[in-house]
Amino acid sequence: MSTTTLAPMPVTSPLPSALEGRTVLIVGGSSGIGLAAGALLTSVGARVALLARDPARLAAAVDRLRTTPGASVTGVAGDGTAEDVLEQALDQAAPVDHVLVTAGALSTGALLDTPRDQVREAVEGRIWGAYATARAAARRLPAGGSITFSSGHYLTRPIPGASAAIASIGAIEGLTRALAVELAPRRLRVNAIRFGVVDTPLARGALGLADDTAVAAAGQGTPLGRFATAEEAASAALFLMANNIMTGTVVTVDGGQALA
Ligand SMILES: NC(=O)c1ccc[n+]([C@@H]2O[C@H](COP(=O)([O-])OP(=O)(O)OC[C@H]3O[C@@H](n4cnc5c(N)ncnc54)[C@H](OP(=O)(O)O)[C@@H]3O)[C@@H](O)[C@H]2O)c1
Repeated sequence: MSTTTLAPMPVTSPLPSALEGRTVLIVGGSSGIGLAAGALLTSVGARVALLARDPARLAAAVDRLRTTPGASVTGVAGDGTAEDVLEQALDQAAPVDHVLVTAGALSTGALLDTPRDQVREAVEGRIWGAYATARAAARRLPAGGSITFSSGHYLTRPIPGASAAIASIGAIEGLTRALAVELAPRRLRVNAIRFGVVDTPLARGALGLADDTAVAAAGQGTPLGRFATAEEAASAALFLMANNIMTGTVVTVDGGQALA
């Protein structure tokens, strides 16, 4: 392994406000936590590039973020698991300082009812998408730059019928630690966020929650009595981007769900 130090690690303010003028690529930025991260980032003056597949939803997300006065927001429609798409997105938005990956579907199914082919796309997309993101970003990010991946609380509190998805988020946390070591000589940082249930379209769909009333009722069983908002979840990403000493870490944002 190369241990060549290519650049010094910059010392900058660790406050999210220090992200003003920085550029962030959000892989999976047209919905949920990624979109909320985009909104928080534009509010502190960061430039934001959103990558997602559905062009109409992406265009709506870009329009929404552009309502913030002075916001600099672009969108790239494409599959964020493909390395060439990621390279193109990074080059279009260059110079990119930080990458947040929130793309990822929940692949469920009981072991004996779920052949591998049924979950292959979701599992491979999550793992190799993260790997491809890191390959594309590692060649382009500056010293102090960061990559942040998404994990989930089912890794430590598994539920039945989600073994493939849980294995894939385990892989993400392993990749996070391995890449933090491998990319540290480049002064690049790699972290992950382990989300509890966050009120997003993905969670509403997966849990069968039809409206706000159903979300509120389901959240009552958690220690704090409600699920996280997408903004609360996304704020951890800004913390990890802004703080140049954070690497190899999995930050949990779950309202205490790991405890109960
Ligand atoms: N919400 C929760 O309760 C929760 C809990 C634990 C972990 N997580 C994880 O946190 C992450 C974000 O979740 P979320 O709830 O914000 O999900 P979401 O609302 O469904 O948003 C996912 C975003 O990713 C994009 N996306 C999905 N696959 C993509 C691909 N291959 N290439 C590019 N973009 C892609 C989607 O747009 P397109 O479909 O148009 O591409 C969308 O913009 C996910 O990885 C999820 O597994 C969420």
